[in-house]
Amino acid sequence: MIRLAVRVRRADAEVALAELLELAPSGVEEVDLGDRVEYAIYGAPGELPELPDLQAAAGDALVEVLTTRVADDWAERWKDFHQPIEVGGRLLVRAPWHRAGGRDGVAAPLQDVVIDPGQAFGTGAHHTTRLCLQLLLALDAEPPRGVMDVGCGSGVLAITAAKLGFGPVAGIDHERESVAATVQNAALNGVTVQATRHDLMHDGPTAGAPVVLANLLRPLLLQVAADGFTGVQPDAVIASGLLAHEADEVAAAFAARQGLREADRRHSGEWAALLLTR
Ligand SMILES: C[S@@+](CC[C@H](N)C(=O)[O-])C[C@H]1O[C@@H](n2cnc3c(N)ncnc32)[C@H](O)[C@@H]1O
Repeated sequence: MIRLAVRVRRADAEVALAELLELAPSGVEEVDLGDRVEYAIYGAPGELPELPDLQAAAGDALVEVLTTRVADDWAERWKDFHQPIEVGGRLLVRAPWHRAGGRDGVAAPLQDVVIDPGQAFGTGAHHTTRLCLQLLLALDAEPPRGVMDVGCGSGVLAITAAKLGFGPVAGIDHERESVAATVQNAALNGVTVQATRHDLMHDGPTAGAPVVLANLLRPLLLQVAADGFTGVQPDAVIASGLLAHEADEVAAAFAARQGLREADRRHSGEWAALLLTR
């Protein structure tokens, strides 16, 4: 197993990370090196992104690329740095190998969301996912309203919505692994999420729902704003995956094309997420 590490300047780290996650959607290990940050991915030889792609993704922030061979216990070591996430004092998003109830001192009654990220993006740890979860917590789940999770990844947002009482809940993703992970994680949590494969770039607009969750990057959010939805039109869209300076443009696109207005905006690190309502 290979560990491929990219060292970038701290000042540009968030921007570089956004690009790197396009190449490594299941997430990266983050190591603080003071004025630099190291992002590392693990994989078998041949399964890792090509070096030139990685260098291009890190862009001007790039300081160094290091490749090391790691012992066969890499999967266990990856588990060590993956920690449970608490959101809004109400949710605990954890992996199956974490103890229910969370870290020491974190007590019930947090809503327990168990996510085995597998090959799909979405441990809950990324700023963009957390921002979505915060905005989702601010919405009323009663009376139950349907949800569409656009780019569902591991299913973390869809499953949380189902556990909060929203329903029926559906999700789409262009990756087969994401659809499978969403269905498996939903079962792990005792909820149902109707997950299907759909490519926003080639398959046209996705089905709508009263609440749409969309943790995508700017180009795809602009595509969704332009394409709209089939069937039910959303009363609320949570749009995340935006760098802070991109939020105005995306809010304006949803206002112009979908008649949705910005009701809330949250920031975390370099990222921003929007709640857009009718
Ligand atoms: C940032 S991840 C979000 C995952 C999860 N919803 C979360 O919040 O943690 C974006 C997801 O969008 C999916 N995606 C990217 N391009 C897509 C496309 N063209 N059509 C459908 N899904 C896409 C990726 O596979 C990935 O699972």
